[in-house]
Amino acid sequence: MKKILTVVGARPQFIKSFAISLPIMTEFADRFSEVLVHTGQHYDHELSGVFFEEMKLPEPKYNLEIGSNSPGKQVGLMLIELEKVMQAEKPDLVLTYGDTNSTMAAALCAAKLYIPLAHIEAGVRSFFYQMPEEINRIVTDKVADFLFTPTETGVTNLSREFLRGEIVNSGDVMLDVFQGFFQRLNIEKTDKGYILFTLHREINTSRDNLEIIAGFLARVGQNLIWPLHPRAKKYLTEFGLLPKITANPRVSLIEPVSYLEMMKYLSGANRVVTDSGGLVKEAYFMGKPCLTMREETEWPETLAGGWNSLVGMDPGRIIDGLKQIPEGKCAIGQFGDGQAARKILEYLNGRI
Ligand code: UD1
Repeated sequence: MKKILTVVGARPQFIKSFAISLPIMTEFADRFSEVLVHTGQHYDHELSGVFFEEMKLPEPKYNLEIGSNSPGKQVGLMLIELEKVMQAEKPDLVLTYGDTNSTMAAALCAAKLYIPLAHIEAGVRSFFYQMPEEINRIVTDKVADFLFTPTETGVTNLSREFLRGEIVNSGDVMLDVFQGFFQRLNIEKTDKGYILFTLHREINTSRDNLEIIAGFLARVGQNLIWPLHPRAKKYLTEFGLLPKITANPRVSLIEPVSYLEMMKYLSGANRVVTDSGGLVKEAYFMGKPCLTMREETEWPETLAGGWNSLVGMDPGRIIDGLKQIPEGKCAIGQFGDGQAARKILEYLNGRI
């Protein structure tokens, strides 16, 4: 029996870890055990607890309760606490997902303690180095022993970086979760004519950018639903922009929602407008046209046929984009076959 220590900390990681934790508890229960560590990077119930409840994830054995801080202090505190946990648990493998500060802290800590490290969602690149997530990805991939990419693009990106770890295109665990939930719940795809909107990235929540977006939302002529991330809410409040947005009756600002609720909102949407990396893919999996409020994407596959378009933080480009009709079908097979978790665990079996 091999012990896997999984480190999660932020909303998208709880969703991704469900894909792996479930087969560890069932199909692979005789080969692997899992110790779940929550860094506490996300601590609001809507960003954290609700996912453990809804997905019936095992309660983390450790919650390090690090919380919000400057990036250096947040990662530093994570390193101090993770080191204690890893030394006490002596796992055969540390497993981490994606690109958050929790991901990079887990990777550095495992590397310093010479514990083998698996990175799920390896090889994802935006090539935009002012994005905290890009640094987290590069550092994590550099020290990982097992790099599981969601797509072939990930393999190509990694092949240019002279890495020592083993690279495997496992497919995307987010597709596993997406397909698993849809099969179980039979959510129907409709078009209720609204835009599903999200925005939270550090670079997009500057005063200038939020003023631009508030101007767009004050005038938008289509119904729009925005589950508000705490970071966006904090800055919209601080800059006094909320009244301007809420004056438009077409705009509904709601609290952050659970995975299932989000999928329900997505299934009824006409368009998605977002700066999230995860929602872009979920829109693609569901065949909903998406506009990305950035100048680059980690998911070039989604751009084909106009299913996803880069529109920056530019209301003119957003409005033009809303009129475009995508062509052809979404090629979901580029993200695997919904069995990424099984491939990952089968690969690790016998190697650790
Ligand atoms: C983090 C990830 C990002 C991911 C996102 C998903 C990093 C660098 N970024 O961004 O890749 O897409 O999670 O949501 O790791 N806050 C709360 N309550 C919480 C958590 C955060 O109010 O439970 C507020 C705090 O004001 C905090 C701010 O949100 O300062 C930012 O939180 P942080 O975890 O640093 O980054 P996210 O923007 O959530």
